[in-house]
This record gives sequence, structure tokens and C-alpha cells, in this order.
Amino acid sequence: MEVGSALDPVPLRGFKDFYQYAGTTRVISGRDLLSSTGFEFQKEGARRVFIVTDEVIRGTGLVERVAAGVADGGLEVAGVFDRVPQDSSTHVVDECAAAAKEAGADSFLAVGGGSVMDTAKVADAVFTHGGDAREQEGFFLMPREDDGMGRPLDIAPLACIPTTAGTGSEASMAAVIKDPDEKVKLEIADFPLFPRLAILDPDTTRTLPPSVAAATGMDAMTHAIEGYVSVDWSPHQDARSLHALRMIRDNLERAVQLGEEDEEARGNMLIAANLAITIALGSVHAMSHPAGAQFGVPHGVANAINLPHVIRHNAAGSDDIADRYRDIGEVFDVSDPDIGDALASYMTSLVDRLGLPTRLSQAGVPEDAIPALVEGALGDGTTILNPREMSEEDYAELYRAAL
Ligand SMILES: [Fe+2]
Repeated sequence: MEVGSALDPVPLRGFKDFYQYAGTTRVISGRDLLSSTGFEFQKEGARRVFIVTDEVIRGTGLVERVAAGVADGGLEVAGVFDRVPQDSSTHVVDECAAAAKEAGADSFLAVGGGSVMDTAKVADAVFTHGGDAREQEGFFLMPREDDGMGRPLDIAPLACIPTTAGTGSEASMAAVIKDPDEKVKLEIADFPLFPRLAILDPDTTRTLPPSVAAATGMDAMTHAIEGYVSVDWSPHQDARSLHALRMIRDNLERAVQLGEEDEEARGNMLIAANLAITIALGSVHAMSHPAGAQFGVPHGVANAINLPHVIRHNAAGSDDIADRYRDIGEVFDVSDPDIGDALASYMTSLVDRLGLPTRLSQAGVPEDAIPALVEGALGDGTTILNPREMSEEDYAELYRAAL
């Protein structure tokens, strides 16, 4: 099905011809939840838990507390894999799956940010079904009953404890993993990748550096905005996106500036990120994925930089699209006949106040990279979900503006 064509734009209002909505992750949120990790995870079928994390998080002592919580619930810790880098890769996923097999694990517990959670998700699929990480690429391609026509086969029980408030991966059916040989980000999405359990406890973001809280918070902002304007919009996701935006408006700057002191803001940002997540994204993500794959620009930083430019471009596409941005503007008390420009300016000053770079060149992207970035963005799965059809020249112009 062709979407977003200039001749036949997808209406962004009214009764939609078709959409589907799923969210099968059990979410528990509150204070002092880490000690009940095992009690909660055994309800999802876990017995021998393989913990996936990174060295920085392990260094904070958080993993030991989670492991104690696992044991308190009568479960065993089969092993800990702490070698997930900031931007995980297919090689790391394969290593992680092999380590879990070696350890005799029967379930995965991710303690970390987006990279850690996505590694655990895809490693779980490889662990359960065999093959390697690269072979998992694609949307709705995981093994199913009845020669592929029936229910998707479960993967081993998976629980996530996010340590950043942004990615929302703990409640999504998608994962993004870098293929370092091809320098692309592989997108993998299917129903079994919904974690069975997500634990949101502000204690996990207590020591988060302000720059990471800012970047990941802008990732959540981008999910909420892109989800709301996407051609793949739905009333179900609209409700989540708009409330996520209100919570981000009220908590993001507090969480970044006050950090450890403001448990309420940190807890609310974890919930906002969890509400904002969707696989219905758009051109901000399409532009940020190649910037990450080719130049290592952190995902949230790339989104924070690209977001205002895509808002300005999209809102100029049609009244229908501009109206969707008007709804978003209302949340932030931004109203102007040129809503695209007004909302874009609001976002740029917010990004600046949060202490993040506002230009790709400040994040290590050189000018001569634009053709390769454009190619990456055009080939990214989120491009066809953008409300305005995107051409090669559109992306080149947006990258030049963002540089
Ligand atoms: Fe994202």
C-alpha cells in the first residue's frame, strides 16, 4: 500500500479506514520496586534469569540490587552480560545470546537504556529461535504457527528495567540494532518482542547524568510528536502521545536540572517515555538513524537536533498536517498562524536550555556526509510513515538546515 503520496494524502482526522493497536507489556510503576523483581518476574514464567546490562550501570551497584531482588523472589541469576556498548551491534547481540545459552538461562532481564533493552530483545529472539541477529531484521517476520499464518511463537520471558527515561523500548515491540559491517541500523518489530514485564522505578535514574537525561527525554518527546502526526496515527496512540507530551512538558526540565533531588520528575519521565513509545514514527527518526549508524551521534541527541527541522517542513505540507501540530502546540501553549515555525522554534530553545547541541556539525557530522545520510534516511523504514512524502532533495535540504 502506498502511503503519504501527494495525490492521495492519508487523512489525519476522522474515522480511520484501518489501524491496529497492541500493547501487551505488563507495566508496574512506583517506588522501591527493585526488591520485588523476582516476585514479579516469576509470574511471567522466569526461573533462571540472564541479566543484560552495561558496565556503567553495573558500576553504579544497581545490577547487584536487582540481582538481590531476583533471588528474593526465589529465582536464580544464571549470568550477567555487561558488555553492551552505548550503540549495540549485531555482533554483541549474537555474543549475548550465546552467553545466555552457555549459562543455561531460561529468561532475560534487561537493566539499562535503549541499547541494553534492544540487545536483550533481539538476543532473546536468537536464543529462542536460532539464527543470528542480522536474520531477525524486518517487520512481522518472526516465526509463527501454521507455516507462518498463525500466532507468532513466544520468545523466552523478557523483563525490562529502564535506566533512562526516553526510549520506551521496555513497552514496545521494536528493536533497533546497528549492523557495523553495513553501517546501517536494522529495525526489528513483531508482537513477541513486547517485553512481558516493565518495571518503572525512579531509583534507576537517580545517577543519570543531566546530558543523558536531556537526550533521552528528547527521544521520548520525538516519539510522542512523531506518533501523533504519523500517517500510521490512531486514536489509541493519540491519547498516549498527548498525555506523554503533558508529562514531558511538566517534568523534563525538572528531571534534567534537579536530577537526584527530584524523584517525582524522574518517575514521571519514566512513565512519559513509556506512554510515548510507538512504532509509528517519521522523518526525524529516519534522519537520526543514519546519523547514529555512520557518525555515532547518540539517538536522543540526533532527534533533538532534527526534530525542529522536520516539524517546520511537515507542517508546511498541508492544513491537515499543520492541524495535528496545532494540537501539539496547545500542550506547550504555542499558537501561531505559522504553527510549524512557532513549534520548531519552541523545540530549538528547549533543546538549547537542556544543554544539548542544536546542530549536527556540533555532534561530529561533516558536510560531505549529506549524500550518504540522505540515502540512509530514504531507505529507513520510518520514512513512509512520515505525514509528508519525502524526496531526496527534501532530506538533503533538511540535513543542510540541521548541520
Ligand atoms: Fe527513538
